[in-house]
Amino acid sequence: MLEVAKDLGEVYKVSTMPLVQTLTPRLRKNEHKNTYSGNYGLNEFPFHTDLAHWYVPPRYLLLRCICPARNVSTKLIDSHEVINREVRDLLNRAHFRPRKRLDGKANILKVLHGELFRWDSIFIEPANNVADLLKKIIEKRLNNIQPKGIYLANTGDCLLIDNWRMLHGRGCIDSKSMDRKIERIYFNEVKF
Ligand SMILES: [Fe+2]
Repeated sequence: MLEVAKDLGEVYKVSTMPLVQTLTPRLRKNEHKNTYSGNYGLNEFPFHTDLAHWYVPPRYLLLRCICPARNVSTKLIDSHEVINREVRDLLNRAHFRPRKRLDGKANILKVLHGELFRWDSIFIEPANNVADLLKKIIEKRLNNIQPKGIYLANTGDCLLIDNWRMLHGRGCIDSKSMDRKIERIYFNEVKF
């Protein structure tokens, strides 16, 4: 993974995580509530961008398949499809905050800030009425947009995601897919 990553760009180490993180299906009851598995377990993960509660989330993430599960896709939705006129009218006035304060601080977060789009239905929460409304509209749009499903079907298959543009979500895990293993690494820049 590190060899692939170093060819692609400048790897970003999140201080609270290993440089290369291993993602496997996990039962909800065994996991902490500050993780997706602790909230959704083996069910489908909702569309989100990673670390959306950070003021500046990492720009890219790379997923690399270690053990494939042919029934489980990584689903993608382009934020450009989410932002219609109704959404755009609210974006500037909608203020969100991290569900949990980071270092005792809670920055006001906007869903769109320059070219940075962020979304997460659990780790950021509305901080005003406009954000309440925007959250409902975005969730409805995400339910109505047909996502693109990518299968990391073979060991070594990689998917590089622009985390400032694309929302992603994992499909649900069936009993044949419990061995699924994916590695993840973050980047702030890539070479192309
Ligand atoms: Fe994610």
